Amino acid sequence: MPHFLDIHKTDPDALRGIVASARAMKEARDGVPKGTPDAEQPLAGRMVALIFEKPSTRTRVSFDVGVRQMGGETMVLSGADMQLGHGETIADTARVMSRYVDLIMIRTFEEATLLEMAEHATVPVINGLTNRSHPCQIMADVMTYEEHRGPITGRKVVWSGDGNNVFASFAHAAGQLDFDLTFTGPEPLDPERALDGLYRTERDPAKAVESADLVVTDTWVSMHDPQSARERRHNQLRGYQVNAELMARAKPDALFMHCLPAHREDEVTSEVMDGPASVIFDEAENRLHAQKAILRHCLGV
Ligand code: CP
Ligand code: NVA
Repeated sequence: MPHFLDIHKTDPDALRGIVASARAMKEARDGVPKGTPDAEQPLAGRMVALIFEKPSTRTRVSFDVGVRQMGGETMVLSGADMQLGHGETIADTARVMSRYVDLIMIRTFEEATLLEMAEHATVPVINGLTNRSHPCQIMADVMTYEEHRGPITGRKVVWSGDGNNVFASFAHAAGQLDFDLTFTGPEPLDPERALDGLYRTERDPAKAVESADLVVTDTWVSMHDPQSARERRHNQLRGYQVNAELMARAKPDALFMHCLPAHREDEVTSEVMDGPASVIFDEAENRLHAQKAILRHCLGV
């Protein structure tokens, strides 16, 4: 079953194909009003379920719009409103949903939920973020880097902050697409051990960003982190804020990315977010194009 569960579970040729297809679909829509269907309708007659157990702006809207542009139909479901949140097993939910829809996208907490859904569904399943990874985001990020600066292979990407789920997907991508990834952050917030070997660590952010082609950060408190950890995390991460001083140490043409939502003046200053290195809104737009390509990959259309 061609699921899209994680970047390291999708082979590099398929990843490259997804980025190329996303670029082609983006170019084809240049200047076309957003509600206009694509000239090609590869999802005509297809029904896609979008399940959210956590909040979302970009993932929700970009999947919904993307499916419709390609001629398909969507239903957006909140986990809490489904029997999933009231004791029905994930496996049974997957079996039932597979009788109604052609593809399931799920944003959930535990990775085990996603994997159980994929194991028991008879239709493709896409990971729309778990506590451990966010592969759709990094497909958009690779696409965004490449449309501004050319191939990411061999480039130096520096992640400053929490070693979280979005970082994990960057690490998977570094392994598959051969770019150099450096993590800079406090030891208690190091990435999980399963990612060892895919990145290097430099505790000093000023040293880490030397000769960086791309600097990335994310929120200091993720949706699955307890709010009670907020103050401690802010104290641990304050020195890893991406600001103009830090960006000045990267290459002169280095880009800045953030998956959003951002907390201005915490993990990144407005000066950087709104400055010339920032491509955050292209990155957000490219979620739409990248996910359309992921949907086509999974459905083989
Ligand atoms: N970047 C991202 O996944 O955003 P949402 O949480 O708004 O979907
Ligand atoms: N690390 C963040 C990403 C949100 C898109 C979270 O999991 O909340």
